[in-house]
Amino acid sequence: MNAAFPALRLRRLRQADWTRRLVRETVLSPADLIWSVVIHDGPDAREAIPSMPGVERLSVAEAVKAAVEARALGIPALAVFPKVDGGLKDARGSAATHPDNLVVQAVAAMKAAAPEVGIVCDVALDPYTDHGHDGVLERGCVLNDATVERLIEQSLLLASAGADVLAPSDMMDGRIGRIRTALEADGRCDTLILSYAAKYASAFYGPFRDAIGTTGLLKGDKATYQMDPANTHEALREVELDLAEGADMVMVKPGLPYLDIVRRVVERFAVPTFAFQVSGEYAMIKAAGQNGWLDEDRAVLESLLAFKRAGCSGVLTYFARDAARLLGR
Ligand code: PBG
Repeated sequence: MNAAFPALRLRRLRQADWTRRLVRETVLSPADLIWSVVIHDGPDAREAIPSMPGVERLSVAEAVKAAVEARALGIPALAVFPKVDGGLKDARGSAATHPDNLVVQAVAAMKAAAPEVGIVCDVALDPYTDHGHDGVLERGCVLNDATVERLIEQSLLLASAGADVLAPSDMMDGRIGRIRTALEADGRCDTLILSYAAKYASAFYGPFRDAIGTTGLLKGDKATYQMDPANTHEALREVELDLAEGADMVMVKPGLPYLDIVRRVVERFAVPTFAFQVSGEYAMIKAAGQNGWLDEDRAVLESLLAFKRAGCSGVLTYFARDAARLLGR
């Protein structure tokens, strides 16, 4: 039961910084962030990504420094995405399961230098295929079950390299259960699975595909496996299945445009739920900031706070380092 104006004046609680802080409902901290980083094995230690100013492709040695920096900043985990040399790509994505591939090297080196920092690895074939799709392609069709077999191999390799969290981002049916069963059979009962459960076929992944060098390769789109942006009930079915199959945490992707989905997932399932502030979201804030059209620092923190307010346990973001520094001030 509320009083009425003038007994009720909601501005009273907004009148000073101390009152605002006292009644604040949501807090953002570095512990809410998973730092998304792109790695490569090119000649330069750091390589600019034109559509993502401020994000660079990192050599393994630089990725190690990033892990050490994350620890110092209080960022709990990093998510690693490889740009694979074009000469290593083929139709099956063979390099995904080469025992000494770029991700394997990076994960091992990062865990050795900063064992306290969690390492999240994408499970999907797109960085490794010459057609840019996340799975095995046959006559223009991405095959579900044949892809899952490859994802199991990739998962076991990443887990043995030291990945703490496997994050299947491929959207094949049944992969979480098959990966979980394979991990248990391999004695890896502690490996976490963060499922990209509700991943939409989105235009906001554009800069990422530049970053990992798949832009020119992708034939067609990913609409036969990633979700239709128009759907919401379907997201709940995806999440329910992945949880039933053994996912420890679920993700919604992209982020800000899909906070309605986050909210429904959190309310329905009450499980650790993450969202990915994807490359296109990064690029939009960055571009507007660089043009002087908005205050980048404030926009970054406000956008990340919005994820928390919607109910996220945490956010995968390319802004993690910047945000952690801002929060530490
Ligand atoms: C691929 C993958 C994508 C992203 C993460 N893993 C792109 C895609 O599905 O095409 C997007 C990340 C981003 O845009 O920042 N399995």
